[in-house]
Amino acid sequence: MCGIVGVVGKPARNIILNGLTNLEYRGYDSAGIYLNDLQGHEYLTKAVGRISNLKEKLTPDEQGLVGIGHTRWATHGKPTVDNAHPHFDEAKRFYLVHNGVIENYAELKEKYLQGVKFHSDTDTEVVVQLVGKIARDKNLDGFSAFKEALKLVKGSYAFLLVDNTEPDHVFIAKNKSPMMLGIGDGFNIIASDAISVFDQTKTFVDLQDGDVGDITKDSYTIETIDGKKVDREPHVLDIDPNAASKGAYEFYMLKEIDEQPGVMRHLSQNYLDNDGQPKVDSKIIDAISKADRLYIFAAGTSYHAGLVGKIIFEHYTGIPTEVGLASEAGYHFPMMSKHPFFIFLTQSGETADSRVVLKETNKRGIPSLTMTNVAGSTLSREATYTMLLGAGPEIAVASTKAYTAQVALQAVLAKALGERLGNKEAKNWDLRKDLAMAAEGIQQLVDGKEKLKKLADKYLVKSRNAFYIGRGMDYAVALEAALKLKEVSYIQTEGFAAAELKHGTISLIEKGTPVVALINDPVTADLTRGNIQEVVSRGASVIKIVGKDFAEDGDDIVLPEINYYMSALLTVVPAQLLAYYASKDKGLDVDKPRNLAKSVTVE
Ligand code: F6R
Repeated sequence: MCGIVGVVGKPARNIILNGLTNLEYRGYDSAGIYLNDLQGHEYLTKAVGRISNLKEKLTPDEQGLVGIGHTRWATHGKPTVDNAHPHFDEAKRFYLVHNGVIENYAELKEKYLQGVKFHSDTDTEVVVQLVGKIARDKNLDGFSAFKEALKLVKGSYAFLLVDNTEPDHVFIAKNKSPMMLGIGDGFNIIASDAISVFDQTKTFVDLQDGDVGDITKDSYTIETIDGKKVDREPHVLDIDPNAASKGAYEFYMLKEIDEQPGVMRHLSQNYLDNDGQPKVDSKIIDAISKADRLYIFAAGTSYHAGLVGKIIFEHYTGIPTEVGLASEAGYHFPMMSKHPFFIFLTQSGETADSRVVLKETNKRGIPSLTMTNVAGSTLSREATYTMLLGAGPEIAVASTKAYTAQVALQAVLAKALGERLGNKEAKNWDLRKDLAMAAEGIQQLVDGKEKLKKLADKYLVKSRNAFYIGRGMDYAVALEAALKLKEVSYIQTEGFAAAELKHGTISLIEKGTPVVALINDPVTADLTRGNIQEVVSRGASVIKIVGKDFAEDGDDIVLPEINYYMSALLTVVPAQLLAYYASKDKGLDVDKPRNLAKSVTVE
């Protein structure tokens, strides 16, 4: 994780601070900036916590025409000022910011840096000290020393390095961590993502793993570590910058929840023609229709979307589908069927855990598809095929609209695949109507958000713990609903298969424990009602989120009508709103829950 921004050739301070603020979704444990005015003055300032703390610490004279900045999600070393980036070498010649993890930092320190005085506990400092040592010992210029050091470094990185003996350059290197080079008129800019610096330029160069670069105000040279030049052509990015702004909303999370009807409509227009036929690249359907088993891998919320996808795929295609946590599969690869096909669900397209599985998938020659919200992201580039969610930038750390987009896009793929395989259910499925009903239904739910706010205030805000229960599709949603509530409100929440509580966990239910029950499945509705009674008898305060046919009393949150297989698209929305209000009404920073980052690029 972590976010980085570098500028060369333009007053850098505000560009870096704005860019870092836009990148805070990548971590916000500490922040730092190095500025060089090219007149012999340099400034290094660091602060624990948010970019706002860093801003407060900066004095007006700290300016520069070259600069690098960093917002940190701590991996090695606590969030302290010393551990904040940029880091520097003993001679204070080199300044480095880093996103990623250096796997062999201990070995490098032991082997090459005996006797060197360190000021932090970070893996990053080892690299900048190594560059300094190599430059000194071998009398090398900064770029050459950097490349020599990189030959020894193992791990993931997006590096920005300034050598104060030639401060009008920023040296860069990328491996497994995202980094874009923005091209300006008389300046250049480097950042973890394009949108963070979109107010400065719309022209970007996609950097690839293994790229090392020398960036000045009006030139850029990209090469391999061995010095072989590589061509990286700039292209103009077509992003709606307003999509990433908060507008009148206090928090992105609510904006993104509210955007879901639009996301459903957009996805329907993008992926279904006027007759409701899926518009999916035929190569994807050719490849996937040969599969005897689908394997979905993902993390967190995307994993939960995969659990919903499994139910949809199996129903509409008849292909057995397995869903796995990427972090587990990476090093315990599943037993494979004869003709597997792998699907990766990832909002960011950068999740390191998922990438480990994809690498192994590629090694084994298994075809794969990444469903992601970020065009050109690492998992998108490395999979055989990509389908874009098109949900627009998701800025709040807690994922909402990307989840519903992932569910809907899996439905599109299931329809296309099922039709190709001659599945009757798929042929008769009016998915266009279902997506329209989902859009309409979500709209009704977000319009009724006041009721959810009241319930959150009454039952959740003061609670220490809570449960979501459901069966079938509702169980998959219960897991996501629980994650949403706990990650933004810090209320310890578990999602349970409704019948499982009585096998142990029901001992945690006491007077007033909130239990949110989800009911959409006609087959098990009565059984779930029985499970509700079991917790009510033990004093639980029950909130029910139920399909139209299962409403019992006026207190129920009743979902608009929808096909059971698409019900996750509606059921999750009240849960997202409960989480939002529980967090907001506790006075928390809804968009940036503690300890988290949006893009999890470490394993
Ligand atoms: C929770 C959340 C995370 C992500 C997970 C995977 O709200 O957003 O659980 O879903 O870190 O991220 P992606 O989807 O980018 O691979």
